[in-house]
This record gives sequence, structure tokens and C-alpha cells, in this order.
Amino acid sequence: MIIETFITTIFQQNTRVLACAETRRAVCVDPGASADTIAEYINANKLDLQAITLTHAHLDHIGGVSDLHKIFPQAEIILHRDDEEMYYALPEQPLLMGIPRGELKALGLEYAAPPTLTRNWQDGETYAVGNLQFKILHCPGHAPGHVILAEENLRKVFGGDCLFSGSIGRTDLPGGDYEQLINSITDKILPLGDDVTVYTGHGEDTTIGHERTTNPFLTSVYRVGRG
Ligand SMILES: [Fe+2]
Repeated sequence: MIIETFITTIFQQNTRVLACAETRRAVCVDPGASADTIAEYINANKLDLQAITLTHAHLDHIGGVSDLHKIFPQAEIILHRDDEEMYYALPEQPLLMGIPRGELKALGLEYAAPPTLTRNWQDGETYAVGNLQFKILHCPGHAPGHVILAEENLRKVFGGDCLFSGSIGRTDLPGGDYEQLINSITDKILPLGDDVTVYTGHGEDTTIGHERTTNPFLTSVYRVGRG
């Protein structure tokens, strides 16, 4: 499996191109920006981009969809239906975060309306990319329509903003819910297995076992008084 990471936007989001080494079939997970750089990599490595696969619709994960889709118009765009509203509200997202309109351009956060989605993820579906098999699991909490992509044979999960190295996704944005996020991590992510590598939406990679035993949100440290 080929995994290439591009750190995009002022939010240092980990955009990834994932590809099957045998068939060259590929997807781009969460193109936050930098479509030209991503496209250069895809073309230089003779990859065949079949889809733009979104974990959720926060601006730092979808800001580059429009430009990337213009370069690869055959690529499907897939997102869970519970994040559709946020996706189509991309131009307004920075304003909802409290960033003044006059500062958007300088911050690289001036967005046009994004292209129409091709379809929605279904919880539990298996999504094939050449010989890779991704299980799609709905993990709400950070965002209502957040999904993770788990390649269980290769022991890897692309977890977006649910679980980070030493932390978890924020839950103060619209549609966020702390209890729901903890439940998603506990019920959907941890059972994938301690040996699974977690490729996070921000920061370093980690493993489920490391987080299960040391992450203060998952050990007792921040859980006093919670059931
Ligand atoms: Fe996010």
C-alpha cells in the first residue's frame, strides 16, 4: 500500500493519497488544500484517482476538493450524509468560526461553493481501492457525519479527527458531542485492535494500543465521574 501525506492549510491537516501498489488505483483522503501539489504527485507516480474520500466536512479537510476535482473530474466525491449541510456551507465555515471576512483571503480560507457530492458513505460498507479493502465506520462526535476508513488486513486506520496522538478531536464546533465521540472511539475504533496504526487528521501517527493505554481521554485521567 502506498501512503503519501501532504500537510495542508494553516490548520496543518494531514491530506493523504492512498493507493494500491499493484493496480495503481488511488483515493485522496481529505484534500484540505494544495490540489496542484497533490495532482503532481498522482500524475508523477502514474496513479489512477478513483475518488476523493472525505472523513468529514470541516474546511481544513475539504477546502481543496473543488480544485482537485477540476483536475480529476472522473473522481467520485464521497461523504456521509450527516455532514452534507456543512460541506455545502464551505464558503461560510470560516465566518462561523469567528474569522472576519476581511482576513479570509490572507489566511487562504476564501472558498467557492464545493462541487456536488457523488454519493454518501454507508456505515459498515466495504470500499475497494484496487486490492485494498476499506471498512467505512460512522464515528460521530467531532462532526455528525464523521467516518473512518479501516484497512483491517493491513492493520491501518485513517481516522480523521476522532483520535489523535495523546488527544481527541474537538467537540465544540457545530454538531460536536463529547459523549458521542468517546463512544465512537470506544465502540468503533479501539476494537480494531491494539496493533493497528492510526493515521490521524493532524499530527503524528500512533497506534490504537498506545492510545488505549496512555491517552488521557481514554484512561481514567479525564473520565472521573463518567460512566
Ligand atoms: Fe475536523
